[in-house]
Amino acid sequence: MVEVLRVAGATDVVVGRGLLSASLVVEERPGRRRAAFFCQPGEPARLSRRLARELQAAGMASAVRVLPDGEAAKTIEVAAAAYAWLAGLGLTREDTVVGVGGGALTDVAGFVAATFLRGVEAILVPTTLLGAVDAAIGGKTALNLGAKNLVGAFHHPSRVIVDADLLDGLPLDLRREGWAEALKAGLVGDPGLVAMFERDGTHTDLAEVVRRAVAVKAAIVGRDPRDHGERAHLNYGHTIGHAVEVAGGLSHGAAVAVGMVAAGRAGAELAGFAEEARQREVIASLGLPVAAPGLDGAEARRLIGQDKKRSGAGLRMVVLEVIGRPRLEMAPTATVSSALAAVGIS
Ligand SMILES: NC(=O)c1ccc[n+]([C@@H]2O[C@H](COP(=O)([O-])OP(=O)(O)OC[C@H]3O[C@@H](n4cnc5c(N)ncnc54)[C@H](O)[C@@H]3O)[C@@H](O)[C@H]2O)c1
Repeated sequence: MVEVLRVAGATDVVVGRGLLSASLVVEERPGRRRAAFFCQPGEPARLSRRLARELQAAGMASAVRVLPDGEAAKTIEVAAAAYAWLAGLGLTREDTVVGVGGGALTDVAGFVAATFLRGVEAILVPTTLLGAVDAAIGGKTALNLGAKNLVGAFHHPSRVIVDADLLDGLPLDLRREGWAEALKAGLVGDPGLVAMFERDGTHTDLAEVVRRAVAVKAAIVGRDPRDHGERAHLNYGHTIGHAVEVAGGLSHGAAVAVGMVAAGRAGAELAGFAEEARQREVIASLGLPVAAPGLDGAEARRLIGQDKKRSGAGLRMVVLEVIGRPRLEMAPTATVSSALAAVGIS
């Protein structure tokens, strides 16, 4: 089954299996004469070269540029070289940039598309689960400059193509990264998605996971496209998670998992959340951590103090009233301490 979800009135997110043919990724459109692919090394590069060859055979000028892997691609220097490459290809505003890779790649490809010639069309093909459920969805693009994501622009891709066959082949650690954000989407907006994870665990159908997680993000982004309010709910687990990620060197997904457990305790104290144990269990069933013992409490607190969501004496946190109903709360210091204690940080 192929499903098309509309995000912010601008992006068609196409989710299904067997979707990675050139005619589906870069559909016929009048005026478009060139497609410029940016991709990560490895599988995304192989895929991009095949798609570009298919397009070329169909008469569209296509070229592929492999960017450095991971965060190394999200720099001003990489973006500057990308602009020069696009200019050399003669890319016009009628043409298309295609980004193929994980979230780091779609962030930089999206940023280049947002800014080259004041904006050209972007089509994104996320090749990690995190990219498919989160990074490629919602129109945020970014580069790192000293701080992570310091430079960026809102630029909605016209299409995002998610092929679950490709995601099924991901190594376990990359699937786990995506499960954490997908589960978060369920916890803040779709109890049915949480129930699916509870029933099927690590075997949960990834096409369905992506459809449901994207639907949650699409609904929230649609109501708050520029991140002035409700979009903050998507930061569930990220306030303490960010501190755990930096202080403990955990991966982003693992840190968000720990952060959600901590937020569960805060929710129990501030919003009557009664499903802490249930939440902890489903997180653990996906092989994600539910504690970060041994982490330096003082360091974690210092990092939370630097968190951009902090103001005044308390800590602004997203908590749940029940699964599927989030709200923003100002957590007093005592609640922050019990939230940290719930994940083994004292
Ligand atoms: N724009 C947004 O709204 C948003 C939201 C969340 C995260 N992000 C960004 O996304 C990035 C994280 O995304 P990520 O976890 O996808 O990281 P990533 O892009 O660094 O990819 C992780 C690794 O997976 C590899 N990879 C990609 N596709 C693969 C495949 N099919 N098979 C095997 N390996 C593959 C990559 O080469 C890389 O080494 C961060 O930069 C983060 O800031 C952006």
